[in-house]
Amino acid sequence: MQAAKHEHWSSSFTFFLAAVGSAVGLGNIWRFPYVVAENGGGAFVLIYLAIVIVFGIPLLMSELMIGRSTQKPPLSAIQSFGQTSGTSSAQKLWHALGWSYLLVPMGILTFYSVVAGWTLDYALGMGIGTFNDLKEGESAEMFQDLLRSPVKLIFWMTLSIGITVAIVARGLKSGLEKTVKILMPALFVILIILVLYASITGDFARSFAFMFEPDFSKITPKLVLMAAGQAFFSLSLGSGAIMVYGSYLTRDISIPKMAVGVAFADTAVALLAGFAIFPIVFAFGVDHAAGPGLVFVTLPIVFNDMGGIGQVFGVLFFLLLAFAAITSTISLLEPMVAQLSESGRIKRARVAIYCGAVLWSVGIFVALSNNILRDVHPLGFLPLFEGKTIEGVIEFLAANVFMLLNGMLVSIFVGWSIKRTITLEEMGLGDSILFKLWFMLVRFVVPLGVGFIFYDVVL
Ligand code: TRP
Repeated sequence: MQAAKHEHWSSSFTFFLAAVGSAVGLGNIWRFPYVVAENGGGAFVLIYLAIVIVFGIPLLMSELMIGRSTQKPPLSAIQSFGQTSGTSSAQKLWHALGWSYLLVPMGILTFYSVVAGWTLDYALGMGIGTFNDLKEGESAEMFQDLLRSPVKLIFWMTLSIGITVAIVARGLKSGLEKTVKILMPALFVILIILVLYASITGDFARSFAFMFEPDFSKITPKLVLMAAGQAFFSLSLGSGAIMVYGSYLTRDISIPKMAVGVAFADTAVALLAGFAIFPIVFAFGVDHAAGPGLVFVTLPIVFNDMGGIGQVFGVLFFLLLAFAAITSTISLLEPMVAQLSESGRIKRARVAIYCGAVLWSVGIFVALSNNILRDVHPLGFLPLFEGKTIEGVIEFLAANVFMLLNGMLVSIFVGWSIKRTITLEEMGLGDSILFKLWFMLVRFVVPLGVGFIFYDVVL
């Protein structure tokens, strides 16, 4: 049988929408603001920006390059480079790296689709008025009710996996492209409306100071580590998402420009999410450092206090989150589906459904770690995993350990294993200062920096 034809994006703009769609997600709108608040504001943002520039952009370029150069899904892409260079133990390492690039996004997807499910529940709830007339303390109670309900969690998780599978099954043009062409502009419009409203009616000045005035005494190794983890997650690095999207790029597109554009857009959305949330949170005098509950507990209180218009903003806000989540979940499923349907032996739609079934089965355990299985600590006998639920273990391994490890190894791969002539040509920068700077970052700074951070988290 013939191998599936390798497709390409219709234009560089659709690629850009899709890549930004992958990067912009729950990480930007739900997680970034509360992690900023937990880590004391400006100092965290500053370190975060530095990490995006020094590690993020060079790695985006590296991953895009591996995909674009080989025009293959992650495992095949890394392998086809690995075959032309290196000893056999190096080849084994690169083979494992290829697998890790496929499995990390699947791992992330198991808990990401549960949280994506919360956003669907909240968008609907806001729409039908479940959150109207919230009394003191009721908001936290309602969030807990969701987490305590196996049926609700599994229902919404099933729906979010179902939507993701349905889109990915349709393939690049009629699935992914169509989705991002609709959802990304909608996301952008909603975000702008929310930011304008918040900064006009809320406490913009305090939010600005909070996000941009660094208190240098707050910079600790732990803060740097949190910022690195957040940056990797937000840029969708260390997992096959960017690589597989890169494989659908044609040769005429500039990788450095795209990488800078994606990093810029992703960071801008994270900051704008802060400016949609903090001004109203400060103005209403509710707790800004509520952790993961900032969006799901604090915001409903604020929307409620706003009166009638609050319900409109509530629906818009949770739709924004849901759209951002879906354009990310499709990029988390695509690497594995692209890889397994590469040979053409099994149809993409079928592969997507099988992958969805696997995700769903693991997702059940993840969802139940919020309630029935909350006291199950699978690797609790190891100090590193103490007190971690099933969800906690998967999240830690996928989003902390392997995502960083992948980023480190891929920079070594690109910096040391792939021939310089190939990278030189792919980057299209000539043998310029910019190319040399990138090459130096990828050879030395990224592996050492990420290795150091990794050492700190894991060892
Ligand atoms: N970047 C997305 C977010 O910020 C999540 C995401 C999508 C992701 N694809 C990824 C994270 C790949 C890590 C790896 O929400």
